[in-house]
Order: sequence, then structure tokens, then C-alpha cells
Amino acid sequence: MKVSIIGGGAWGTTLAQLLKDNNHEVLIYEINENYVNEINNNHIHPIFKNKLNEMITATSNLEDVINYSNIYMLAVPTKVVRDVLISMNKFINSKSIFINVSKGIEPNTLKRVSEIVVDEINQNNLEGFVCLTGPSHAEEVIERQITLLVSASENEELALMVQNMFANQTYMRIYTSNDLIGSEVGGAVKNAIAVISGATTGLGLGENARAAVITRGILEVVKVVELMGGRRETAFGLTGIGDLIVTASSENSRNFQGGKKIGEGMTQEEIYAHSTQTIEGFRTIYALNNLSEKHNIELPMINDAHEILEGKLTVKAALEKLLKRELKSEDF
Ligand SMILES: NC(=O)c1ccc[n+]([C@@H]2O[C@H](COP(=O)([O-])OP(=O)(O)OC[C@H]3O[C@@H](n4cnc5c(N)ncnc54)[C@H](O)[C@@H]3O)[C@@H](O)[C@H]2O)c1
Repeated sequence: MKVSIIGGGAWGTTLAQLLKDNNHEVLIYEINENYVNEINNNHIHPIFKNKLNEMITATSNLEDVINYSNIYMLAVPTKVVRDVLISMNKFINSKSIFINVSKGIEPNTLKRVSEIVVDEINQNNLEGFVCLTGPSHAEEVIERQITLLVSASENEELALMVQNMFANQTYMRIYTSNDLIGSEVGGAVKNAIAVISGATTGLGLGENARAAVITRGILEVVKVVELMGGRRETAFGLTGIGDLIVTASSENSRNFQGGKKIGEGMTQEEIYAHSTQTIEGFRTIYALNNLSEKHNIELPMINDAHEILEGKLTVKAALEKLLKRELKSEDF
């Protein structure tokens, strides 16, 4: 099959290589000319050390990528997804399938990526949507290390199609799920919890604090999944707790790293001044704080993380505040 990949950063390029390994054809759309040149001329990506498959090519011409196939894999930061879809819609003129691998919720609308696709793509050209998500560091998948993901869709046939396209018998196993909402939401919320986990490390705390953040964090993931219409059990699978573990316990995670710098006393602005790479967790914290205010539901760690990002609370003060909360039972 032919796949148009929208976004040639760490994850888009890694999945391009997986698709090539599985004998599919790919063309990457990327706005960073340096990435395009390195992929086309030297078969490398500046983010990674290893050589890429020489058949992987990239372009900064959106129309060419749209005309290349009718399967579009979205791998851009969620903050640009709506604008990118608006641009794509101008060139799409036949039934198309969208596979999203980006993880986030739009702060002002509280919409998931599948809902943004419905907003922006002409309905006559929209065949269906699949979210491919789960515990995955690009740095490991690019080295073909064993990884398990979930292909989630309300359309079973499409979930199966994506499962078969991405799975192989050497390093990638894919499960299907019909809980699109739960899968999309779990993948987004875990980034917010990973920022908090990183912040405790940045403050100098150890693994006890990290385990506490991850465990109490999954309760906030469950709350949001249920609030947004997903199934509770989904939060306890690969797309919820699985992705939370890999992101919130690893120095490889950009969200963990971003949180760590916050814990060390840096601001968001200072962090972005040093790196252009996507830290979805910051934006997701704003989205979830808006959600919690809209529904008048407490998300204790996420609400405090929002105050920290706004400069209204330090990480140390937030932890002291959590410790002073009324004592209660853990019985669920
Ligand atoms: N890196 C991972 O391990 C990983 C794993 C799973 C999911 N994800 C998700 O995938 C998404 C992308 O993450 P990433 O790690 O690849 O980020 P990245 O920053 O490495 O790559 C994003 C790419 O999008 C490009 N881009 C930005 N604006 C664009 C625009 N308007 N049009 C076209 N391209 C544009 C950037 O130039 C960049 O190359 C995020 O939502 C992230 O949460 C990442």
C-alpha cells in the first residue's frame, strides 16, 4: 500500500521506516527543509544516529504528498493539526483514510484529533479514521526494538487494515480496539502526567515520588477517559497505563524531560528557546485544566501542574499542597 506521511519528525520518520520494513510505499511531507534534504540525500534524520531505508523520500510540497496516496498518516504536533488539515482539504478530491499518531487535545475546543478531522475534511472525502497509539519511544522503534501498539477505530475494517499494515513478526505487534475515544484520550492525558513525573525528578525527588505520581496519575487518566466518553478498561491497557509507564518513567521521554526542567526551575518559554521538538504534555495540561473547570471536576495533579506552568505555584509548593490534602482511604 502507499501511505502519505504528514510530518517527518521523530515519530513520522520512524513509522515511515516501519512501513518500508513491511513492504509499503511512503512519501513524507515535512516543512523543515534540512530534514527533507537529509532524508533524501543522506538517508539519515538529524534526530537519529542510524541510517534510514534508502527508499524513504520526503518533500515540502503538500500537493504532491496528497496526490501520492489516499491514506494520510498525521504525525505533526497537535497544535498545528487543524491548520495542516485545512491546507490538506484544499487538495483532497477522493475518499481518504486518516491514521493519526499525534497525541493531544485541543485546549480551546477540547476536541480530539478525530473530531478535528471531521471538522476540517470535506465529509464526501472522508472514508474513516484510525488512531494508532500505545507505549512507544521513536528512539527504540527506529532501532527495531519490540513494541506493542493499538489500532483504534469505530470502523472495525479500518482498524484491522491498519493492524495488518503496521504489524510484523519481528518487532511490532498491533492490537485492535473499538474504543476510539478511550484510546485517543489515554494517549493525550499520559503526557500531562509525564510532565508532572519529570518535575518531581527535577526537584530532586526519587522513585517513590515517581511511582506515586504514576499510580495517582492513572486515576486522573481514568477520570478524563470516562468524562470524555471512553471506556474505563481502556485506560488500563496499552493506550492508557502502558503509555503512561513508558512516558512517565523514562528520561527518553520529551514530556518527562520538559517536566524535569520545570522542576529544576525553568519556565516553558526558556525550555522552548532551547528546543523546537514537540512537548505535547504542556499544551495538554492547559486542555485538561479547561476540561476540569468546564465540568467542575477536580484533577488534583493536573490542576496544580497548570498553576505551575502559569508561574502561580512552584513545584515544591504544589507538592506541599498535595501532602496537606485531607487524609483519605485508597479503597477504590
Ligand atoms: N517521538 C515519539 O516517540 C512519539 C511516539 C508516539 C507519538 N508521538 C506523537 O507524535 C507527534 C509528533 O511527535 P514527534 O516526536 O514526531 O515530534 P517532532 O517535533 O520530532 O516532529 C514533528 C514534525 O512536524 C513538523 N511540523 C511542524 N509543523 C508542521 C506543519 N505546519 N506542517 C508540516 N509539518 C510540520 C516539524 O517540522 C517536525 O519535523 C506528537 O503528537 C507526539 O506526541 C511521538
